Amino acid sequence: MLRSRLIGVGSYLPEKVVSNDDLSKIVDTSDEWIYERTGIKRRHILSEEESTSTISLKAAKQALSMSGLTGRDIDLIILATATPDKTFPATAAIIQRELGSQGSAFDIQAACSGFLYAMTIADSMLKNRQAKTALVIGAESLSRITNWQDRNTCVLFGDGSGAAIFRAEESKESIEGFGIYDMIIRSDGNQFDLLCSSGGAATSEDCGKITMNGREVYRHAVTNLTAIAEEILTRNNLSHKDLDWFVPHQANMRIIESVVQKIGISMDKVILTIEDTANTSAASIPIALTKGFQEGKIKEGDLILLDAMGGGFTWAAGLLRV
Ligand code: UT7
Repeated sequence: MLRSRLIGVGSYLPEKVVSNDDLSKIVDTSDEWIYERTGIKRRHILSEEESTSTISLKAAKQALSMSGLTGRDIDLIILATATPDKTFPATAAIIQRELGSQGSAFDIQAACSGFLYAMTIADSMLKNRQAKTALVIGAESLSRITNWQDRNTCVLFGDGSGAAIFRAEESKESIEGFGIYDMIIRSDGNQFDLLCSSGGAATSEDCGKITMNGREVYRHAVTNLTAIAEEILTRNNLSHKDLDWFVPHQANMRIIESVVQKIGISMDKVILTIEDTANTSAASIPIALTKGFQEGKIKEGDLILLDAMGGGFTWAAGLLRV
């Protein structure tokens, strides 16, 4: 059967690093509070010259290099971001131009679940033969929409990008075959206001700043991330014991630990970046995936569970063998 095979990953974190101690000079906070409550030590912040398109290109080029392809081999680009270069056209169009790619290129917006939403669309299009080789990117310039006076949010987020290349290939139908097995995406618009930006093109005519009811988001995150992870395992007749790696969205170490405990996976099967990256929203999963490969943890044949939750609310899970 035709499946979407992961053939390359890449990521990029801006050079500038802001530590918890740096933040404690701007707002009333401390390294101790941030680390204990979130597991975050530092975050990377864009330079003035950088933007979502430039950091996306860096991750994309690394993924192309790993896959042995060039931009011309790509016939579908989907960028998940809440922080596009311009309101329109899609930032993916800049990436398509710079890589000299073919086919189609567009952005999607599903906040922190964006990369898994983009993977879901790419997987459907590859299986339907609407494209052969997809570049899926999650990239965020969250520092541009952060209220640096608000200690409830400014300590939580960071900038960065991650990319993955999927190619439509014939694979065994059984669970031994490589490729994406399954994706689930969900949303609940009733929770729209709990995690959102304070503005937008059609309302305030600017992009606004991040606002969040942290406690409520936390509660829903643990519930939804656990439920969707269990759902995707159950409907594929798998148990957590079949998994080689769990790559969760990196928003809060305590959320990850709760979900891991509820699902029953051991912590040494979890890829973690949160200490060094903070929450990079749509970029978080592809950055963690890349780290898993670069550190030699994820190997050919491994079965991986992906899990994310964010504004909307949106949440999603994915299951693939690399
Ligand atoms: O990607 C998905 C989106 N994001 C998330 O998943 C994040 C979900 N939420 C969280 O991670 C946590 O709720 C936070 C890390 C945001 C907050 O942790 P918490 O344990 O839920 O703390 P809290 O909101 O209950 O606040 C506890 C106290 C409050 O003081 P009072 O009202 O008890 O006096 C806050 O004002 O901590 C205070 N506080 C801070 N203190 C020092 C809030 N932010 C800070 C800070 N430094 N940066």
